[in-house]
Amino acid sequence: MKVGLLGHGVVGSGVRKIIDDGLTWEVRELEVTRILVKDASEITDPRMTLHADEVLNDPAIDVIAECMGGLEPAHSYVKKALENGKYVVTSNKKMLANYCNELFDIARKNNVTIHYEASCGGGIPWMASLDRTRRVDDIISFRGIFNGTTNYILERMSREGSSFADKLKEAQELGYAERDPSDDIDGHDVRFKVNLSCVKAFDTLQNIDDIITFGIRNIDKKDLQWCADNGYACKLLGNGEFHADRICAFVIPTFLKKEDVFANIPLNFNAIESNSLTLGRAMFFGQGAGSLPTAHALVQNIVDIYKSQDPEINDKFPVAIDNSRHEGVYYIRTLRPEVFAACTDRMISDDTLITGRISLLEIARLAEKAADDKLFIAEVTE
Ligand SMILES: NC(=O)c1ccc[n+]([C@@H]2O[C@H](COP(=O)([O-])OP(=O)(O)OC[C@H]3O[C@@H](n4cnc5c(N)ncnc54)[C@H](OP(=O)(O)O)[C@@H]3O)[C@@H](O)[C@H]2O)c1
Repeated sequence: MKVGLLGHGVVGSGVRKIIDDGLTWEVRELEVTRILVKDASEITDPRMTLHADEVLNDPAIDVIAECMGGLEPAHSYVKKALENGKYVVTSNKKMLANYCNELFDIARKNNVTIHYEASCGGGIPWMASLDRTRRVDDIISFRGIFNGTTNYILERMSREGSSFADKLKEAQELGYAERDPSDDIDGHDVRFKVNLSCVKAFDTLQNIDDIITFGIRNIDKKDLQWCADNGYACKLLGNGEFHADRICAFVIPTFLKKEDVFANIPLNFNAIESNSLTLGRAMFFGQGAGSLPTAHALVQNIVDIYKSQDPEINDKFPVAIDNSRHEGVYYIRTLRPEVFAACTDRMISDDTLITGRISLLEIARLAEKAADDKLFIAEVTE
């Protein structure tokens, strides 16, 4: 089976290496025949080209592995590949989470499929396990630490009592965080992964903008001090819950009791848990990123295609996210506590309060009303 690679960076070069090395008979059935790179200076292999059409229009290529990242031109290239009747595997959660409705539709019309194990949890077989569970069971909910960068920052801040700015800089120096870290620290990266996990877990297609998302940009040492003093650890969690005809989907820093297994996930690791009717809770833990772990997940998807194992077992249906169905208790630090007066259970300082039990949708509404660019919100587990 012939594979065309789009992008030869951290992930793309890992895919090329795993397939070229061919450790198993399945992988030896695959061959990377074309590799799209961006700059002439990157051409180090006769398979490399600067022209996308030479990959996307090559009739010999069966599968396109998209490893470029970003929205465009990744989206247009994937669209073209599907229209040309090629299967697609991608690690690009941002592109797919934004365009999955359109791309799934084009894939269906062209009798091919699009696979995205690597887009969520890197090498952890999270998507594959959702597929397996769904063959027998309904998923009730999932939650997870989907972003290693923010987990690293939160853990180091808690352990060392250091500032957010210092630990963000350290994560950037270690190569965990991008130069523009907004997608990570504002929770968007987790939002993309929650969107794709909902597609797999619940067979739903939802509007990504309805996924309520709070990040850790404004977290302060004193928030983590309150956590420690009260027996909690803070983690950025992505969540999905199925409620009959509606789903809740949200991203929020969460104060977890220290004995909760998620409270103890170290450094830049990922951990994701599903809860389903007969299996109950099942948890997946590992490196959510990195060249070879992420490439491993892409190659697994290509082997699935080679073996004609299409993991998508059900049609997807559009559903409205209704985050009024998720209720919790929230820790809120704000310059405008008066906006939250009606839901305040107690003030813990002049600018910090704990709410009574309230819907997440209402908290999001009040957060918008407060228009406070220093606002920090976390859910406090009971
Ligand atoms: N790194 C990880 O551990 C990881 C884990 C999970 C998922 N992912 C996802 O995998 C994707 C790739 O990430 P990465 O870390 O491999 O990024 P990367 O190292 O920056 O690699 C992307 C490569 O694609 C090239 N590229 C970009 N636009 C191109 C174009 N128009 N034509 C040809 N080549 C182009 C880039 O070239 P230039 O450098 O010249 O721009 C770069 O070599 C992203 O969607 C990311 O979110 C990454």
